[in-house]
Amino acid sequence: MFYGKRDGPGVAIKIYRIRTANFTTMSSYITGDRRFSRVKKSRKELVFAWTRKEFSNLARAQEAGIPVPEPLVWDRNILIMSYLVEDEIPCQQLKNADIDDPAGIYATIMKYIDLLYHKAEPVHGGLSEFNILYGEKPYLIDKGQSVTRDHPSAYQFLMRDIRNINRFLKNRCDVRNDVEIFNAVTGLDTAEP
Ligand SMILES: Nc1ncnc2c1ncn2[C@@H]1O[C@H](COP(=O)(O)OP(=O)(O)OP(=O)(O)O)[C@@H](O)[C@H]1O
Ligand SMILES: [Mg+2]
Repeated sequence: MFYGKRDGPGVAIKIYRIRTANFTTMSSYITGDRRFSRVKKSRKELVFAWTRKEFSNLARAQEAGIPVPEPLVWDRNILIMSYLVEDEIPCQQLKNADIDDPAGIYATIMKYIDLLYHKAEPVHGGLSEFNILYGEKPYLIDKGQSVTRDHPSAYQFLMRDIRNINRFLKNRCDVRNDVEIFNAVTGLDTAEP
């Protein structure tokens, strides 16, 4: 990850390494996503598709009104997006941020999960205190692994996202039961998805 700035707001430049990319993990998120059914199975092609997927997932989230870095341009394995900064201070990972209103943050993240599911790429797939940056509000980042609803593991990923947020915030504020949240978001009525 690099930071670039000339005049105006800075940009974050994310470059996926081709040689060291985790081919198996990436494949498991791309297989089953109909947008990428034609992707060839070479490592390079997969990484390029992954970059395109992260760009498109950010754009969809932004359209749904979820705070994310603004995706600006992609080319091969390079993604350029706006750099998240507030009052000239780079936004911190939620993990390291000063959390003054955990209940408010929890409610906001739960709203993002619901908005994603109903209005954007339904499931983030890698939601955790590492992939949320915190400024005045939480921002979702690292959306390469987000999956569509028809992905075979979509529900499993959604449940994992919910559990990660509950785990991180449960000692700081009251959290709701994870299965109850899952059912409220999906409209399903499962006992243990
Ligand atoms: N748009 C951004 N603005 C400011 N900082 C950012 C931005 N995007 C990423 N970062 C910083 O870079 C770190 C790594 O970014 P990100 O989570 O997207 O990559 P990663 O975890 O290395 O990627 P992956 O897990 O997909 O390999 C973030 O935790 C954050 O600190
Ligand atoms: Mg990350």
